[in-house]
Amino acid sequence: MRLAVCSSKGGVGKTSTAANLAAVLASRGRTLAVDADPQDSLGRAFGVVAKSADDSLAGVLSGTTEVRAAVRGEVAPGLDLLPSHAALEQVGVRLAAEGGLVSSLRRALRPLLAEYEHVVIDTHGDLGNLTLAAVCAADAVLTVFTSDPGSALGAARVQSFLAQHRDYENTTAELVGVACSLWDKEGKAAREVVDALSATDLPVLTTRVPLSRRVPSATLAKRPVVLSAPTSTVAEAYRALCDEVLSSYDTKVNR
Ligand SMILES: Nc1ncnc2c1ncn2[C@@H]1O[C@H](COP(=O)(O)OP(=O)(O)OP(=O)(O)O)[C@@H](O)[C@H]1O
Ligand SMILES: [Mg+2]
Repeated sequence: MRLAVCSSKGGVGKTSTAANLAAVLASRGRTLAVDADPQDSLGRAFGVVAKSADDSLAGVLSGTTEVRAAVRGEVAPGLDLLPSHAALEQVGVRLAAEGGLVSSLRRALRPLLAEYEHVVIDTHGDLGNLTLAAVCAADAVLTVFTSDPGSALGAARVQSFLAQHRDYENTTAELVGVACSLWDKEGKAAREVVDALSATDLPVLTTRVPLSRRVPSATLAKRPVVLSAPTSTVAEAYRALCDEVLSSYDTKVNR
């Protein structure tokens, strides 16, 4: 599976979801985590920070760095990671102007694909050109929403974004799941948002990743919660989410 984690809104829990899913998938088959967000948060979740643009995906997409040279090996058991850098934003603007951005990540990752069972790509919290490049490199997309009604609207926007680009950008990625994160089980807004989304044709997953202080603590500790607190409720939720995503992938993509 090549999974891009996307949302039209920032701060919904994408990076935490991408980091934990990558760690769970890696325990089952060799996995590559790709940080396609200039904020470089996915790398930081594993304690990886690129020292320069050339040491990161920015260098790879610019053509100055060979992709294997930028990949960090074994950042967690079974998991390699291609980090980002703030320069990725400018690289994206330049490639967009030159016309090569959309397929750039797909082309960059192609030589590596035979080595990995799964690829997990984290994206910036928008539906801009770098996110489109991530979608183009993926065969599956997961989007995340929270108790905020705006983020639920965002899930529908991701579906339209995929439909629009499938037609004329040669993207094939399917929306395999809409996942609830930062779930406040006591909150009325959370229930209303889930009910509203469940009434749509979006593939809303049943797992809810609960609000948990362990998630930000794990980022500080540079070990996603499934690795640093594997018996916690939130780690359990990320593992269940991973199972749901794989099962949806088998139905929608691998059929
Ligand atoms: N289940 C959770 N419980 C509590 N806090 C969480 C949870 N998931 C994520 N967070 C926290 O919420 C904040 C946003 O999460 P995260 O960085 O994963 O979102 P994002 O969608 O990647 O944001 P951005 O759009 O800025 O990249 C972070 O501080 C993170 O530690
Ligand atoms: Mg993020």
